[in-house]
Amino acid sequence: MPKERTIYVCQVCGRRAAKPVGRCPQCGEWNTYEARVEGPEPRTRRGPGVYRLPRRLHEIPAAEDARWPLPMKEFARVLGGGVMPASLVLLGGDPGIGKSTLLLQAGLLMARERRVLYVSGEESEAQIRLRAQRLWPAMEGEDGFPDEFYLLSETNLEAILYAVDQVQPHILIVDSIQTVYQPELEGVPGGVTQVRESSLRFQMLAKERGIAVFLIGHVTKEGVLAGPKLLEHLVDTVLYLEGDRYQAYRLLRAVKNRFGPTAEVGVFEMTDRGMVEVPNPSEVFLAGRVVDAPGSAITVTMEGTRPLLVEIQGLTSPSPFGQPRRTAIGVDAYRLLLVLAVLTRRVGLRLGDQDVFANVVGGLRVQEPAADLALAAALASSVQDRPLRADAVLIGEVGLSGELREVSHLEARVQEAAQFGFQVAIVPRVLAKRKPRWPEGMVVREARTLRQALQWALT
Ligand code: TYD
Ligand code: MG
Repeated sequence: MPKERTIYVCQVCGRRAAKPVGRCPQCGEWNTYEARVEGPEPRTRRGPGVYRLPRRLHEIPAAEDARWPLPMKEFARVLGGGVMPASLVLLGGDPGIGKSTLLLQAGLLMARERRVLYVSGEESEAQIRLRAQRLWPAMEGEDGFPDEFYLLSETNLEAILYAVDQVQPHILIVDSIQTVYQPELEGVPGGVTQVRESSLRFQMLAKERGIAVFLIGHVTKEGVLAGPKLLEHLVDTVLYLEGDRYQAYRLLRAVKNRFGPTAEVGVFEMTDRGMVEVPNPSEVFLAGRVVDAPGSAITVTMEGTRPLLVEIQGLTSPSPFGQPRRTAIGVDAYRLLLVLAVLTRRVGLRLGDQDVFANVVGGLRVQEPAADLALAAALASSVQDRPLRADAVLIGEVGLSGELREVSHLEARVQEAAQFGFQVAIVPRVLAKRKPRWPEGMVVREARTLRQALQWALT
């Protein structure tokens, strides 16, 4: 236990001092100081002088999982199953990616069972109504807006808290935290001080009243959320909405979650009726594929616990200048360089005088090394102008010696490929004692090296 100490408190004005005081410098009264023994200032105080004592772990009643259902499966899964009362959730993403749309839709849906207050500092009430008018009928038929959905256009924090007092919502959505400001604080709205202080107030609000608070936060040009990741440690859950602004697909990802896994990903499509859930993403990411075209390879990437089929494209073209260019879209630029070096040195392909482009279809970002093999195959296929087998998926990490290395979740990946009609999987050699159970009808070929895998994959 921390040490107790004696302090002296003026009985008239409450001023505290470390030593006995004759005349109080604050109120001017004489001999008003009394000694008091106290521990350190507690963090939680339930009324004056009432401190809570620690309890043994088994004395603490088990909390039920009291999540509120969110009738948007892709969203709910990312949150860990539903909306946690008394939680603070930050939804980050580039401007224009669809944050307001997503939370407006989620808010409207939740307002059928709970009271929702949507506060916007970005748009007028009329604008939001217009948007809701367009979205809601497509989501829920023509029944009219839910009664328990409240809207307020406001940026002053005190006014927002007043509105919360009046409406008593279960769910509060703040769009965006960068527009909220406290007039008595220094700093511009969106600046570090304002954003941090306002977020702290919302944190207290969530914990004290049991409200689920969603804060929208724009990612600024530098790729940070309003000041260097300022809020991430302060909130319970951090979600990012990402995707290519010029493509329709959006990935919702949890990068931190006190109440659930951080690996889950939700997939949406931005349509003229708002964000539409994509329950079967592999299907859409393969939709535009041209079979038998050189430079196209299919792999299975893991988004959290979920396997996702994606097409990786490579294009090589003789470089008109001395310095050939390497362009990576959706794949890590360093992995591209690594794969190129291995293709050159271990497989013997001539790439030194070629411009190289690599692209992941659908605006996805694939960062994991398990996509190396498909990337290498797409480039080898392009430079040799030979298509890859159309019925094969390629999975594996490429090592510097040209070896193919094992990846996680291989069974699940191959299973997903089988579900979509692929018949061959070219994978690294499985070293585990327990051999995986491959799906029926799937030919799984285990390659030791990149060279061997390419021989099997190229037609
Ligand atoms: P928005 O939710 O305002 O993005 P954010 O809050 O992240 O800045 O969405 C912005 C874009 O989405 C805008 O360019 C228009 C487009 N959009 C649609 O395509 N369909 C829709 O139904 C809506 C509401 C927006
Ligand atoms: Mg917005």
